[in-house]
Amino acid sequence: MKPFASADAARIAPKIAIDDLTLDYVNAESGERHRAVQGLDLDVRADEFLCVVGPSGCGKSTLLAAIAGFLKPTAGTLTMDGRPIAGPGADRGVVFQEYALLPWMNVLDNAALGLKLRGVARQERYATARRYLAIANLVGVEHKYPHELSGGMRQRVAVARTLANSPEVMLMDEPFAAVDAQTRMVLQEELVRISERSSLTVFFITHSVEEAIFLGDRVAVMSPGPGRVRHIVDVPFSRAARTWKTLNADPAFGALREELLDLVRTPAASAAAPAAQHASA
Ligand SMILES: Nc1ncnc2c1ncn2[C@@H]1O[C@H](COP(=O)(O)OP(=O)(O)OP(=O)(O)O)[C@@H](O)[C@H]1O
Ligand SMILES: [Mg+2]
Repeated sequence: MKPFASADAARIAPKIAIDDLTLDYVNAESGERHRAVQGLDLDVRADEFLCVVGPSGCGKSTLLAAIAGFLKPTAGTLTMDGRPIAGPGADRGVVFQEYALLPWMNVLDNAALGLKLRGVARQERYATARRYLAIANLVGVEHKYPHELSGGMRQRVAVARTLANSPEVMLMDEPFAAVDAQTRMVLQEELVRISERSSLTVFFITHSVEEAIFLGDRVAVMSPGPGRVRHIVDVPFSRAARTWKTLNADPAFGALREELLDLVRTPAASAAAPAAQHASA
């Protein structure tokens, strides 16, 4: 049983519970094993925005793939609402770094794709897709094709498509890494706004500790691979204050950024604290 930081956290069952999780890749030809994640403990709370940072290759995308149901645990347990995750499902939506829009479909059809695959009637799926395109600030481009959009707009279509599927959990793997810095800020501010307006649990992977602090209710730091969670911090800034202008002016933001950067950069062996004391903090 993992320790809880507060009585509140102890009362609320986690949306996703990850216990002593190990994830191996097995080479189909040689049978050789590569351990990407080992002994990882993490609870994702219902409706929280959890950001995950860690050095390249530490197993972040592998962990996300397991939560999405693309990869089965080698050892340990992985549950959603108390039930083992056995495969992909519409209750979890995934947004990858690459836009993954279909180039031969216009924006509206791309946004409605998930609903179409689930057999939702045409009128209803278009109405839903238009609603989420509006939330993602994409009114007026419904009939354009992906190649006619900017990178940031394409990424917003991908976010709208995932939201249109009304997932309970949104799994995002560095979704804004490929867009320019200005667009990224706009997307980040929009994502904060969107996640506030819907009851949605977000699991968000990023290389950027600034992005993690800006977006997250909590930030989990992973150790170098095979990864586990070595530290979790609560982000102390109110949602209302999550604009870049406000945060950049707050010395506490700089201090938290330095703390997290140190954790990402220093080898796990010399980490200040073991994961077990923080995995549910
Ligand atoms: N399909 C695969 N087969 C074998 N090994 C893999 C596979 N995918 C990833 N790996 C290995 O597993 C480890 C974790 O990879 P993963 O992609 O999860 O890292 P990451 O933390 O997402 O890195 P990055 O920040 O660079 O995206 C790495 O050592 C990687 O080489
Ligand atoms: Mg990755």
